Amino acid sequence: MRVSMTVNGEPTTADDVWEGESLLYVLRERLGLPGSKNACEQGECGSCTVLLDDIAVCACLVAAGQAQGRAVVTVEGLAGQDGTLHPVQQAFIDAGAVQCGFCTPGLIMQTHDLLRSASGTPCDADIRERLAGNLCRCTGYEKILDAVRLAAARMASTGE
Ligand code: FES
Ligand code: FES
Repeated sequence: MRVSMTVNGEPTTADDVWEGESLLYVLRERLGLPGSKNACEQGECGSCTVLLDDIAVCACLVAAGQAQGRAVVTVEGLAGQDGTLHPVQQAFIDAGAVQCGFCTPGLIMQTHDLLRSASGTPCDADIRERLAGNLCRCTGYEKILDAVRLAAARMASTGE
């Protein structure tokens, strides 16, 4: 089947999609967007997190056909057109929160979703709760918390 959706602001079509294919597979293997990672394919790790109609979802759990006519944003879509990184992306780098990087796209999408919807700077408990579904096997999470705090502080100071 054919699936037409908006991906990172661009009208996009994927052909020959099998009915059982996930949105994650279509993004990575058919549309050339490997940012969303495939670690568990069971909704357990959060590495495949994308926004679907502005809601954070695990792309491995969304059938590609369910994305028909909808808007998808991946980690690739957060950077500016000129390649300028989104403040959350930059904060993960600056805080040293990226080791192997496999969990990073999902964490960045969740953090982005948290910070854009938070009223004020989220407390550590709110950050931990929001990121509870995103697993990292490398960092011990402290650097990730640092990155979220850094992004929150920078975005608050610039009004983003
Ligand atoms: S690959 Fe989707 S939650 Fe792990
Ligand atoms: S940096 Fe390796 S899994 Fe998180």
